[in-house]
Amino acid sequence: MCQYQKLVVLTGAGISADSGLATFRDGGGLWENHRIEEVATPEAFDRNPALVHRFYNARREAAAQAEPNAAHQCLAAVEQQSKDFVLISQNVDNLHQRAGSKNLLSMHGQLNECRCIQCHSINEIHQDLTVESVCPNCQSPGSLRPNIVWFGEMPLHMDEIMAQLMGCDLFVAIGTSGTVYPAAGFVEIAKSHQAHTVMLNLDGTDNTMFDEVITGQAFEVVPAYFYDELDFKR
Ligand code: OAD
Repeated sequence: MCQYQKLVVLTGAGISADSGLATFRDGGGLWENHRIEEVATPEAFDRNPALVHRFYNARREAAAQAEPNAAHQCLAAVEQQSKDFVLISQNVDNLHQRAGSKNLLSMHGQLNECRCIQCHSINEIHQDLTVESVCPNCQSPGSLRPNIVWFGEMPLHMDEIMAQLMGCDLFVAIGTSGTVYPAAGFVEIAKSHQAHTVMLNLDGTDNTMFDEVITGQAFEVVPAYFYDELDFKR
C-alpha cells in the first residue's frame, strides 16, 4: 500500500515527449523555432491572429495524432487506486484525458477548446481555427481564439490548485523544466506544507527544492516510481 494519503502530480511537456510531441525548451523544442512574443501572447493575437492560429492548429493536429504513453496510463491507474489524487497539467494536449485521467486541472487550457472573445463561451473544437471561424454559441465571425493561457494571462484553476498543494503529503513533478511560474513554485508551496517532493525528469533541472530527483524518460521512470517504489498495482 502507498504510504501517502493525498497525492498531487504536476506534469509538463516532458511526459508527452515520449508520445512524440515536442517540448518547449529542449533542443529543437517549440520555443527554438517560434518566438513566444509572436505566437503565445494576447498582443501577438491582436497583431497577427492568423499566425497564432497556424501555430496552435499545428499543435492540435500533432496532438490528435499522438497516443498516450505508459506514463500517462500509469497516472490514470494510480488515480483509480487512490482516494485522494489530483493531476495538474501544464500540457494543452489531451493525452491525460485519453489515458483515463479524470481528476485533472489543465492550468494552461486545452488545444481542443476555443473561447469566444465576444460572448466568452468555451466550446470544443477538433478542426483548424481561422480568423473567419464563427462562434458556435453567439455566431460572431472572427471571434474565436484558442482556449490556451498565453504569457501575461492568469493560469486556470489557481484557487483549487493552491488548496490541493497546501493539503497534499506527496507532490510529484514530471517532465517539466520548472522555469514557468506559477507552476515552477508549486514544489515550494507543497514542501512548506510538509509534503514529500519528488521530481521525475529526463535530466535534473536547476530547481533544487525537491527531496528526491529521479532522472530518465517519463515512460520508464513514472511506472517505475509509482508501481515499484509506491506499490500501486500495474
Ligand atoms: P519545457 O520544454 O520547459 O520542459 C520540458 C522538460 O521535460 C525538460 O526539463 C526536459 O528535460 C524534460 N523532458 C524532455 N523529454 C522528456 C522525457 N522523455 N521524459 C521526461 N522528461 C523529459 O516544458 P514545460 O516545463 O512543460 O506554457 O513548460 C512549461 C510551460 O512553458 C508550458 O506549459 C508552456 C511553455 O511556455 C505556455 O505556453 C503558457
